[in-house]
Amino acid sequence: MAKNLSLVLSITLLLLVIQPIRGHSFKSLQHLVGSHKGQTVKGLHEIKHYLSAFGYLKLNRSTGLSNDHASVKDEFDEHLELAIKSFQKNFHLNVTGRLDSSTLDVMMTPRCGVSDIDDNMSPNYALFPGKPKWGKKFLTYTINSGVTREVLDKLSFALQTGFEEWHKHTQFTFARGRPTSTSDIGIGIMHIDGPRKVLADSVAPTSGKMRFDADENWSINDKPNVDQIDMVSVATHEIGHIIGLGHSTHPDAVMYPYLNGGVIRRKLSQDDIDGVFALYGKP
Ligand SMILES: *[C@@H]1O[C@H](CO)[C@@H](O)[C@H](O)[C@H]1NC(C)=O
Ligand SMILES: *[C@@H]1O[C@H](CO)[C@@H](O)[C@H](O)[C@H]1NC(C)=O
Ligand SMILES: *[C@@H]1O[C@H](CO)[C@@H](O)[C@H](O)[C@H]1NC(C)=O
Repeated sequence: MAKNLSLVLSITLLLLVIQPIRGHSFKSLQHLVGSHKGQTVKGLHEIKHYLSAFGYLKLNRSTGLSNDHASVKDEFDEHLELAIKSFQKNFHLNVTGRLDSSTLDVMMTPRCGVSDIDDNMSPNYALFPGKPKWGKKFLTYTINSGVTREVLDKLSFALQTGFEEWHKHTQFTFARGRPTSTSDIGIGIMHIDGPRKVLADSVAPTSGKMRFDADENWSINDKPNVDQIDMVSVATHEIGHIIGLGHSTHPDAVMYPYLNGGVIRRKLSQDDIDGVFALYGKP
């Protein structure tokens, strides 16, 4: 039991939670619209942290960031401009290097916590560095609970639906194991970063760890409300990470990192299928 828990805590992939647009972070970043290289604007360090968290910016002393949040600088330097350009390129925005409103809109959207792997996202699907993958096609999973029956039921449904979708297009078979058995995949529910921002995360092969943010308003209905996040879409996305796919720049792909409240994205697109074929070959 304790061993399982420590495995879950080591999970490195994240799913995102869907949130209403009027979030605190949205309001607090509004004044950054239009900022560009050469300026110093209070709050720019939040953009640097964001771009660093998702693989676009390396933080070091010269870029003005350290572990100490208070020491982070708000300077818009050339490193930040390059990082913004790379982000804009990935998400098919105008590559201006400025924080225009379209760019900030994307940044405010709930998303997966897994890094976008810099500008390796071309043209669409991506694999993890080194292309890690499973050497077997039968994977078992266990759910580390400690959650309410209701959440557990939602998660079971979301995972089963997600696994079936991947099974349709791959050689993978997934089965639920006994909670105490040794498993390929451990799935946990815990508080990640509170409501919004990051919804869930997971780890590249062959670690197989996945976790969901307990603070999200999860739904498994076919028509979630705008203040809810579709758990089936998120589960299907996270399973893609588990078998070796990174983030896609294709907005219709299950592996696209952003997911708004009320949105369903449960079916694999051709891009997702191309990605899994690239890694494992056609079934
Ligand atoms: C800091 O990062 C920038 C951009 O990646 C790089 O050019 C610079 O050499 C780094 N400085 C140090 C001290 O690592
Ligand atoms: C890109 O720039 C063009 C021309 O200024 C503008 O019409 C368009 O809305 C911009 N697209 C985005 C996504 O900001
Ligand atoms: C979760 O979503 C439901 C349905 O939209 C809503 O009634 C409820 O208030 C939401 N709960 C929270 C905590 O946001």
